[in-house]
Amino acid sequence: MKHLDLESLGFDEGAHLLVKHALVGLRPGERLSVTGAAPSLTVHLRAWCRGLGHGFEPHSGDQGGVVRRGAADVGRWRGADLAGSPDDVAEEAPSHWGLGARGCTVEAGAPEYGFALRSRDEVWAEDAPRLYAQGVAAQWDPATAVPWDAPFDLDDEVEDAVVQVMTYLIENETAALVVPARFASQVHPHYREVLQLLALQAADEARHIEVFTRRALLRRERPGLSTVGGQASLKTLVDEREFAEATLLLSVLGEGSFLVLLHFLHEHGPDPVTREICRLAAQDEARHVAFGVSHLAEQARRAPALLGRLESCVRRRHDALATTAGLNEEVFDALVVLAAGSWTSSALREGWKRVQALERAMHQGRKLRLARIGFDDAAAEELAGLHTRNFM
Ligand SMILES: [Fe+2]
Ligand SMILES: [Fe+2]
Repeated sequence: MKHLDLESLGFDEGAHLLVKHALVGLRPGERLSVTGAAPSLTVHLRAWCRGLGHGFEPHSGDQGGVVRRGAADVGRWRGADLAGSPDDVAEEAPSHWGLGARGCTVEAGAPEYGFALRSRDEVWAEDAPRLYAQGVAAQWDPATAVPWDAPFDLDDEVEDAVVQVMTYLIENETAALVVPARFASQVHPHYREVLQLLALQAADEARHIEVFTRRALLRRERPGLSTVGGQASLKTLVDEREFAEATLLLSVLGEGSFLVLLHFLHEHGPDPVTREICRLAAQDEARHVAFGVSHLAEQARRAPALLGRLESCVRRRHDALATTAGLNEEVFDALVVLAAGSWTSSALREGWKRVQALERAMHQGRKLRLARIGFDDAAAEELAGLHTRNFM
């Protein structure tokens, strides 16, 4: 029989680790004699053995005893469940896998968590892991990535236009933070990369809010105007309860349109700070859009009825916003002035033309992405046209 002397080490000091270590390699039924000088050793050893399903015979005189190794599947871990496999996602993730790492062994009786999104079809996209890795590698620091001190000189009205556009961007970015943050708390952690991607998306938006705020206040005391039409549009987005519908409205249509807007501001922004923050934000937005499109395209391939649901959601939102003003004049005019860059009539004509082209490019982008999800040409054209005039 194998023998272990614990000397004076007690169970209140980690003695169980030595016993466990000595049991490794013993087959069920084989025995280990344990001795030691710690007070109450026998009592502690008996309790420990009972907890893990090992047999126990005490030595005389409170000096330990003989441990008979139990069957491997006896004790606390009887009935434990494997939480899937580390590198494969399950069709369904049971509630009791809870926060456990994918592929871990979950003790029987673990609490049931209420994650609402716990099937592969609801959340997964094949390129979620790739997009997450790409997102992590592309993080930038607002303090060092932006030339905050670059010299520039703008007309007062052009500066006002920039501030107004920034004010508009900030409230849109805030909606884009709140929505993924809410869904992140509903995604079953088994679909880890989607959870990580949503968290990263929220962190990206946090940076966008920061840089647009900083640009708005670079030369002004306070930001510009927030309109009823703009906020009403965003509220329908923030209030959307379904993940697929919210992904369509936010990531595919909203952030898709925003991507075009940010490219526009990068190209036509009147100062180096505006141009650079829009370039940096656009890089992040491209990733957010990519996840939304691939997630919905994959889901619609597996369950084509989804397209009907998405179509009614676009119509519902359009009807809800039909009585609001859509993109407010303040933002539209500010975009024209900003794209004009000065106050001459020929510059304004050019700015106006550029904003018209911007709206056409946004429409084309929406149509293209709707087609990639699975809508036919006519439906994609119509639904792209029903999107909120607020852009997001
Ligand atoms: Fe953003
Ligand atoms: Fe975004």
